[in-house]
Amino acid sequence: MAILVTGGTGFIGSNFVLTWAKNTDEQVINLDKLTYAANPLTMVPLEGKPNYTFVHGDICDAALLQKVFAAHHPRAVVHFAAESHVDRSITGPEAFLRTNITGTYELLQAARTFYDGLKGDEREAFRFLHVSTDEVYGTLAPADPAFHENTPYAPNSPYAASKAASDHIVRAWHHTFGLPVLTTNCSNNYGPNQFPEKLIPLMIHNGLSGRPLPVYGDGLQVRDWLFVEDHCSAIRTVLEKGRLGETYNIGGCNQRTNMDVVKALCSLLDELAPDTNGESHSRLITHVTDRPGHDRRYAIDATKIETELEWKPAETFETGLRKTVQWYLDHQDWVHTITSGEYKRWIEQNYENRA
Ligand code: NAD
Ligand code: DAU
Repeated sequence: MAILVTGGTGFIGSNFVLTWAKNTDEQVINLDKLTYAANPLTMVPLEGKPNYTFVHGDICDAALLQKVFAAHHPRAVVHFAAESHVDRSITGPEAFLRTNITGTYELLQAARTFYDGLKGDEREAFRFLHVSTDEVYGTLAPADPAFHENTPYAPNSPYAASKAASDHIVRAWHHTFGLPVLTTNCSNNYGPNQFPEKLIPLMIHNGLSGRPLPVYGDGLQVRDWLFVEDHCSAIRTVLEKGRLGETYNIGGCNQRTNMDVVKALCSLLDELAPDTNGESHSRLITHVTDRPGHDRRYAIDATKIETELEWKPAETFETGLRKTVQWYLDHQDWVHTITSGEYKRWIEQNYENRA
């Protein structure tokens, strides 16, 4: 028995693969292109583990995908691989359309060919789980109800549009070709192994180095935060018990403004890594030019997965955020391997011209 995970060296994929390989004997095959977003140090704990196999490759490579399915005969695919950073999708959308749309299409085609050759129990058991985002639903006004599974799609950024397209393609491969798919749409994740271009690890990294904490616009945009391990447990639950062709929204019911998140991080840094001069990290908070097309608010209604599949998150925002800050403090070597070279160029490009 094996599962095929795409993008398993990235933030959420690595948390999923590490927990899977630790807690089961089942083979996990990680197919990853190792873009800038993948830190090779992340997977070191799995070196030499007999139930872990790494395949270096691109989900747009149809010939490679065919070989991977034939060689490993997976009972399920969990599809994380994507370009995932909204700001990068604004400065360079092409890679998002390529990986998120064409890559998902190629993966579906390979899975379909493989599935068509399965018989009996193997065919019955096969699953293709597509990991998607709440950003496909667009933006909410302050009093709007949270996104539910029937909220109309209204993606606003190139990233969100590419993920929305991939969701539609996955849906069509179920309805037209009968591929047994499941789709999850999750809110903002945080936790160990997140690349420090995203809000929480960027603020921790800058705070520790005494650099400005760049808050876009007024900082009153709202996100609904979920600890990454809770997202992974939800994916395992959907894989095991989800109804074919259904979508499940995943969220932690933790709506916070960006300012509240940054202030909470400053307090944790003040406590866990106080500045030698005794000043609070909050002195570093700097408002900068807003993100173009910035969605104001996301919120997830997770009633369906909670009632139908009996899933619940284990962490509160407070416990999860403390664990996250502590993880970054304990893994500064992990951060240092990726905060040179390409990372420096991105930081200059994204922040230097913001007023
Ligand atoms: P990430 O950017 O940290 O990791 C993406 C991984 O995919 C990297 O390891 C990268 O090397 C790999 N990859 C990229 N292009 C590839 C290609 N063409 N072929 C093979 N591998 C490729 O992303 P993440 O934050 O872990 O997100 C994972 C998935 O979860 C994405 O599909 C994203 O849309 C979705 N998601 C993310 C969040 C979040 O808050 N981060 C929330 C909801 C949904
Ligand atoms: O909602 C799920 C999505 O969450 C995922 O699909 C995406 O892959 C993931 O990147 C995330 O998207 P966001 O754009 O919400 O995450 P990000 O960490 O980039 O930004 C969170 C909020 O913080 C957002 O309102 C923008 C703001 N921000 C971000 C950065 C990087 C700042 O104010 N300053 C910054 O420097």
